[in-house]
Formats: sequence, C-alpha cells, structure tokens
Amino acid sequence: MNVQNQFSKYADHYGSYNVIQKQVVSKLLDDLSDQPKYILDLGCGEGALYEALTWMPKHFVGIDFAPGMLELHPKGEGIQCVYGDFNDPELFEHLRHLSFDHIFSASALQWSHDLEYVFKNIASLNTPVSLAVFTSNTFKTIFETANLPPLLRSADEVKTLSMHYFDATYEVVTYSLAFDSVREMFRYMKRSGVSGGRGVLNFTETKRLMREYPLDYLEFEILFIRS
Ligand SMILES: C[S@@+](CC[C@H](N)C(=O)[O-])C[C@H]1O[C@@H](n2cnc3c(N)ncnc32)[C@H](O)[C@@H]1O
Repeated sequence: MNVQNQFSKYADHYGSYNVIQKQVVSKLLDDLSDQPKYILDLGCGEGALYEALTWMPKHFVGIDFAPGMLELHPKGEGIQCVYGDFNDPELFEHLRHLSFDHIFSASALQWSHDLEYVFKNIASLNTPVSLAVFTSNTFKTIFETANLPPLLRSADEVKTLSMHYFDATYEVVTYSLAFDSVREMFRYMKRSGVSGGRGVLNFTETKRLMREYPLDYLEFEILFIRS
C-alpha cells in the first residue's frame, strides 16, 4: 500500500471544521482519469464533492441520512438529493434502477455498521469507485494518551474487506493539522464530525487529556480505494 503524508496548519483555514474532508475530496477528484457525468455520492453531506467538481455532471445523486446536511447540499438541474442510509439494502435496490458512471464516497463509510455488506452492495452496482475511508490511526495519539482503543477499523482491515469486492488500487494518506492552542485543537476534534461523537470521557478526564496530549497537531489517516 502506497503511503503519503500531508501537513497543514489550522490557522490557515480558520473557522472551517472540515479542512481535512476538503483535502480528501480534492484528492478523490485529482486522482480521476476522466470526468464522469453520471455520479453517485454516498454520504454526500452538504455537498463538498459536488462543489469541487470542475465540470458539469449530467446527473448527480447525493445520498445522506442527515436531512440537515441534504438541505445544505447545492440544488439544481441534474442534482438529486436523496434521503437514504447506506446500511440499508433497500437503498441499493432503488439505486440499481439508476445508471452511474462513477461512485464516490468521501469521509463517510467509516460509520457503516457492516462495512463488508456496504462494499458488497456498492460493488453490485458494477461501477468504478473512488472511496475515502477514515481509519484507525485517526486521532491515534489522542486515543493512546487517553488509554482508549481506536474508534475506527485499521487501514489493513478495510483494505482486506474491500479486496473481496473491488479490483482496486489502495493508498493510505496521513494528514497532520497543527493548532496554535490545545483548546482550539479539541474544539476542532469535537466539531469536525470525524470523532463520531464518542463522548466517553468525562469533564475531568478530558481536562487531563488536554494537559497530557504531547503533540500540537491532530492526526488523520484515510484509506483511498480506487477501481
Ligand atoms: C464527515 S461527513 C462527509 C460529508 C461529505 N462527503 C464531505 O466529504 O464533506 C460524513 C457524512 O456521511 C453521512 N452519513 C454517515 N453515515 C451515513 C449512512 N449510514 N447513510 C448515509 N449517510 C451517512 C453523514 O450524515 C455526513 O453527512
């Protein structure tokens, strides 16, 4: 597996809580060899992928299970925002009646209950994919300092599951995002939507973690799957 490292400073993106997700979307698009016109975006959120397209697709279907996110997604001719859960086989029954030339999923599939099942359903659509999945070394030192097990599956685990269904290339990219203060770093972690809202630390434990965290940056790890 190819490994790449990227470093950014939060101060350069102040106020934005999806700095890394935006970089993930850019990489997914930069790595394409064509400009697909019929696009499915699983876990589309408020439309980072659609907004980053440099061409006009003919039909763009964005799926998300958070109505508040779908509301914020760009609307318009050729754009269909669909309320749906990628853990739900019925969603894929519906999608089988549509035709796509590329399937994307950016920073969303790490939350699937049964990732193998979701991969199987995606693969059943017989369409090239570009998937970016957050993996276990995301916030690695936070979890180690707090003596907690990682929240997410490892990159090897996700790759192994995926290899059953896709003839793909794999790349792990680690991102470091540096902060001017610990408080700002923890606020980012809470608001970024990457931590999955696991509120397992009480106030005192969180204070201790903030005191003892040895780095001035957060760590992110993403597995890119491209077929
Ligand atoms: C971190 S956001 C990423 C959004 C967007 N893809 C981006 O790159 O900015 C993850 C998105 O996945 C959606 N999501 C998580 N689990 C989902 C599921 N089971 N079915 C559909 N959407 C889901 C969330 O609602 C959220 O909008």
